[in-house]
Amino acid sequence: MTTSARPGLPMVVPTQDLPPRVRIYEVGARDGLQNEKTVVPTEIKAEFIHRLADAGLTTIEATSFVHPKWVPQLADAEQLFPLLEGVDAKLPVLVPNGRGLDRALALGVRSVAVFVSATESFAHANLNRTVDEALAMSEPVVARAREQKVRVRGYVSMCFGDPWEGPVPIAQVVRVCRALLDMGCEELSLGDTIGVATPGHVLALLAELNEEGVPTDRIGVHFHDTYGQALSNTLAALQHGVRTVDASAGGLGGCPYAQSATGNLATEDLVWMLDGLGIETGVDLGRLTATSAWMAGQLGRPSPSRTVRALAKATEPDQEQ
Ligand code: HMG
Ligand code: MG
Repeated sequence: MTTSARPGLPMVVPTQDLPPRVRIYEVGARDGLQNEKTVVPTEIKAEFIHRLADAGLTTIEATSFVHPKWVPQLADAEQLFPLLEGVDAKLPVLVPNGRGLDRALALGVRSVAVFVSATESFAHANLNRTVDEALAMSEPVVARAREQKVRVRGYVSMCFGDPWEGPVPIAQVVRVCRALLDMGCEELSLGDTIGVATPGHVLALLAELNEEGVPTDRIGVHFHDTYGQALSNTLAALQHGVRTVDASAGGLGGCPYAQSATGNLATEDLVWMLDGLGIETGVDLGRLTATSAWMAGQLGRPSPSRTVRALAKATEPDQEQ
């Protein structure tokens, strides 16, 4: 069944074998802002997160409790969190180690994410550890969080390629995924940190994970859009049965390890596709786009999201009239 076009929304034409509902895990306030050159004032970050929740996003990664020298853009985590009171969404945060978990628990955080690389080079660059040392650092964090009934996600970075090492063997990724699940992570997020994945590669990794006993319902996907593949990769993952997709409002971000102006898959581009497929997300595209356009103004640069730009153009007054 199809529904005729609605202003600012795609025509709905469902297709077979896709889920009725997808959970969007919004990472703009964390992955997006950690990679922006501009350090955004704490009050603006708080308003951003409130507005994302008002647009219908129910999981919004808020910030990171990492070393402030490593990520100065998120050094205000302690000041930000109290300003998020009343936000009607889950607000997970990144914690690399026990110190990060202590800081998060002190503020009443109920959902955290640990992060490990599939490659040695990025493990060193991002956490100053080998892969095995990073896993060993995560293990007590996961155990302690679980004891406190705090939800834990495990990110795996560089699942599809690494800027120093090139292609990453699938078995190497699977080993880290298994280790994170075995230590108690409830969910995995497969990171294409530099945005080099293509759909066949995504399907090959998902199939191998299933083969090694990792069920699809424990897997989320986290695509960066460096080569314009994020949406294609997402569709492939959805066809495989993945139901959790990470995205960043307005396509915020970029990556210090990939010379690209684009960040994560833009949430608006994702919602446009899912709306068109008749897949429920709970997100109001108009409100979300207005929020990203506002944030682009705060950052002083246009949003890289195609959908944000197209919808902004569609609502511009006609110059010829
Ligand atoms: P290190 O230098 O090895 O730290 O960094 P250390 O363990 O030796 O400790 C040194 C000092 O830092 C100590 O203080 C600690 O207390 C302090 P001192 O005793 O010298 O006064 N310290 C901390 N302070 C505040 N908060 C903390 C903390 N931990 C130690 N949590 C460390 C190791 C993990 C701290 C550092 O490497 C770090 O903070 N890294 C974070 C990097 C990061 O946030 N990267 C971006 C997120 S990952 C990502 O974006 C990928 C993802 O999006 C998925 C994808 O796309 O692939 C998730
Ligand atoms: Mg990322």
